[in-house]
Amino acid sequence: MVLVSVSCFYVVDITALAPMVRVGTLPMRLLALDYGADVVYCEELIDIKMAQCQRVVNEVLQTVDFVAPDDRVMFRTCAKEKARVVFQMGTADPDRALTVARLVEKDVAAIDVNMGCPKEYSTKGGMGAALLSDPEKIEAILRKLVTGVSVPVTCKIRILPSMEETVRLVQRIEKTGIAALAVHGRFKEERPRHPVHCDYIKAVAQAVSIPVIANGGSLDLVKANADIEEFRKATGASSVMLGRAAMWNASVFSSQGPIPVERVMEEYLRYAIRYDNHAFNTKYCLCQMLRDKVESPLGKQVQAAQTNVEISEAFGLQDFYLQTQEQLQVRRDSLYSSSQPDQPVMDGDVTMMAIKFERREYPPQITPKMFLLEWSRKEKLEQPLYKTVQRSQDRAFQSTVTVAEKKYRSSLWEKSKKFAEQAAAIVCLRVLGIPEGRIGEEDSGLVCKRKREWKTNGFTEEEGRKKRHIAGIQQENESSEFAAAANGSHHKPNGPAAQL
Ligand SMILES: Cc1cc2nc3c(=O)[nH]c(=O)nc-3n(C[C@H](O)[C@H](O)[C@H](O)COP(=O)(O)O)c2cc1C
Repeated sequence: MVLVSVSCFYVVDITALAPMVRVGTLPMRLLALDYGADVVYCEELIDIKMAQCQRVVNEVLQTVDFVAPDDRVMFRTCAKEKARVVFQMGTADPDRALTVARLVEKDVAAIDVNMGCPKEYSTKGGMGAALLSDPEKIEAILRKLVTGVSVPVTCKIRILPSMEETVRLVQRIEKTGIAALAVHGRFKEERPRHPVHCDYIKAVAQAVSIPVIANGGSLDLVKANADIEEFRKATGASSVMLGRAAMWNASVFSSQGPIPVERVMEEYLRYAIRYDNHAFNTKYCLCQMLRDKVESPLGKQVQAAQTNVEISEAFGLQDFYLQTQEQLQVRRDSLYSSSQPDQPVMDGDVTMMAIKFERREYPPQITPKMFLLEWSRKEKLEQPLYKTVQRSQDRAFQSTVTVAEKKYRSSLWEKSKKFAEQAAAIVCLRVLGIPEGRIGEEDSGLVCKRKREWKTNGFTEEEGRKKRHIAGIQQENESSEFAAAANGSHHKPNGPAAQL
């Protein structure tokens, strides 16, 4: 059953991919959607970690990434799943829950709170199944979310020791105004191998008028697509959520019948490559799919692989891997060299310009960094100091150079650290109106133009001296002294200037 809009999110009979830590990342969610899942939950993400994340539009991958301060992508999503993805969080704090929900709400279809995780790491912080014994906290969290965000809010619970207690709890939960309720039909002490309690789910479905999503049937009840409807009927629920059955073979969502797991793994891997999924996560998910075949030759190859390239080789997908990398690189190049205005802007205390370092624009052995270093020496300034960062989503670099206590940076990210430093040096040189060594520079009038525009920064010296300096620098570059200085050491006369 296909959902027609976010507003009727859970109203109709749906099948959902259950939230699963490490499993429910973007490639698995997209795969489940391809096979016929209507809704896909992300893995549980803890509110404290998410609250520190920044929302970053990743134009290369065409995703939205929520990036932690250590540059780890905590949650990656894309337009294809926007109307279907449920963001599940682990929380025990209404305010923090709201902060996180507001951070992600425009990129997801609904927000879910995990109230079923029995693991100690969750319960000791008052999250997951610990919430089941604190209905006031449940109400506070859900009410805050329902009134605070514009997308539907849901929660996922386990059942309580008696049917009466379970019914009382869900009736309180319903009053908070949530859009739907997922019920994992196991007590919090029960393990995944224990049989699911369909009668409890049925009691819940009868006790509330919001849609109930039955969960917990993977091991014994739902082995094939046709079993989904049987499970739904047995629980009286309006929808079904699948965890392990989907993790083992996501084609369980397909009404066309099962697809061999080897093909499913290949399809999964294509998404993992396309969306630059972390290799360890890719490997983990593939190993879950391999199940008892994990010691097979393919299983061993997957286990030995350390990178997405190596995993691709195990599946004969190295050409696909290379083609995808090339496509991403083309997109990266076109984005970074797009015609952004090259006017300087201030970002905090950093002067920024959209500048890329194009090697072909400079004579061999000449770089902007050399020019900046030489100029700094002549001005008796401290040597330029470069600080470079790398972002995880596309491994691109951005460098900030400090000269005379002022910072300069290109707003465009570069594919290497060296290029990022050169771009930062160009920004500094252009802002200060200093020649940068580009072929045909004197003809371009750029130096004079920049000098006129940036008279206020205190660095513009008489133009004549700078122009003489351009002419002189090439000769100086031939000398070993310049090369040593370029390396940041006056004691290494033979250091290659090209490193600058
Ligand atoms: C690997 C794995 C990770 C899980 N992580 C989560 C999670 O992040 N949030 C959650 O609410 N439940 C989590 N669960 C529980 C499932 O969502 C589901 O409730 C459970 O597997 C029972 O459904 P099933 O019988 O269809 O597998 C996880 C289960 C598995 C197997």
